[in-house]
Amino acid sequence: MKIGMDKIGFFTPPTYVDMVELAKVRDVDPNKYLIGIGQEKMSIASNNYDAVAMAANAAQAILTEEDKEQIDMILFATESGVDQSKSGATWVHDLVGIQPFVRSVELKQACYSATAGLQLAMGHIALHPESKVLLLASDIAKYGLNTGGEPTQGAGAVAILLSAEPRILEIEKESATYTEDIDDFWRPNYSELAFVDGKYSNEAYLNTLKASWGRYKDQQHANLSDFEALVFHVPYTKMGRKALQALEDEMTEEVTERFNTYYESAIRYNKTVGNIYTGSLYLSLLSLLEQADELPSDARIGLFSYGSGAVGEFFIGKVQAGYKDYLQTTAHEAQLNNRHKLSIEEYEDLLTHPVEVDEAGNASFTASEVISKEDFIFMAVREHRRQYGKMNEYAGQGE
Ligand code: HMG
Repeated sequence: MKIGMDKIGFFTPPTYVDMVELAKVRDVDPNKYLIGIGQEKMSIASNNYDAVAMAANAAQAILTEEDKEQIDMILFATESGVDQSKSGATWVHDLVGIQPFVRSVELKQACYSATAGLQLAMGHIALHPESKVLLLASDIAKYGLNTGGEPTQGAGAVAILLSAEPRILEIEKESATYTEDIDDFWRPNYSELAFVDGKYSNEAYLNTLKASWGRYKDQQHANLSDFEALVFHVPYTKMGRKALQALEDEMTEEVTERFNTYYESAIRYNKTVGNIYTGSLYLSLLSLLEQADELPSDARIGLFSYGSGAVGEFFIGKVQAGYKDYLQTTAHEAQLNNRHKLSIEEYEDLLTHPVEVDEAGNASFTASEVISKEDFIFMAVREHRRQYGKMNEYAGQGE
């Protein structure tokens, strides 16, 4: 039985920062951001888009009423969780209207946890082939103003419907996973912003890639030429180029050229969204599937998932015949093209004014006019309870 991705949805907030404008204000050569880091724009979440609201938007874009009846597990991968106890999955469950007999949980291991979710879903569907699993990966990457990590921020969510007999990508059951306790990037409970040892995190990423791929290669007697393309966790698009370079010794010229060509399609979305942590690998996969010419059916794609701290996994997706018919390419392109550019002042204002809850447990904030009426948003906090709903139901709730 094949198990894998039957649908893939994506959501990013409707506001972004232009990297050239940011570079000028930071007195940095724009080419450092455009070429050195490899980012053109980064999505910025206003207070109305937290991890839950973004995930609900990504999910509502792909789910039919039939799916909502068949989903019996919701896995919410995030490192931007909004509660230490309650999982983001429970809110999304209610917002998008999934039937009640569902296992709902939140998963954490930096950017890796969506891949853990994918593997849990695989096991669940193997035992219950009639099940559908909703996997959500939703995050806001925030390093703060004037930090080394600033040009590698971003915000967005990916929603993946996993099932037997998937129409987009079968996931092979063999994979190689690697864990090592390191401090390359972390966010203690008391901090809204991430701490990072930037250069070390790049090294750790590449070491983990080599360890995971090395293990897979040895166990499966594999060779990089077995794959049509490679897709990586993309914290910023230069990082994937470094990953390709790190493996170049094992590639023929032809394979190097093929992987590099596909890589351009695989970073088109990431280049204008930025890092979305748990969803970044899956956004890159989506970008490849939607932006490259149709891949041959049964083509095998090697995927590398990395989460600081650190856990990595190398695994394989097999492209299904006719997959392009089940993607939402036009809607995703429109979403990215129709975003509203923030001035650097507006961006700085957003980053320095997070939601503040008063002593009675209330918080209010105004919703921006650029939010679409159909979007789910985080509206307010009332007596410590977060309020979510569609923008068209907002009607001054935030005031
Ligand atoms: P930095 O110190 O700002 O940058 O840190 P740099 O001075 O090293 O320059 C970056 C690149 O730009 C260099 O190229 C320069 O040569 C080049 P490289 O040596 O890397 O090939 N450059 C230029 N190129 C063209 N024209 C110019 C120019 N000037 C310089 N004029 C760093 C960069 C990525 C470290 C920083 O932004 C950072 O700390 N980011 C956050 C951490 C991160 O993204 N790490 C990635 C690996 S860890 C990971 O992926 C996990 C993560 O997603 C979290 C999770 O798992 O939850 C982050």
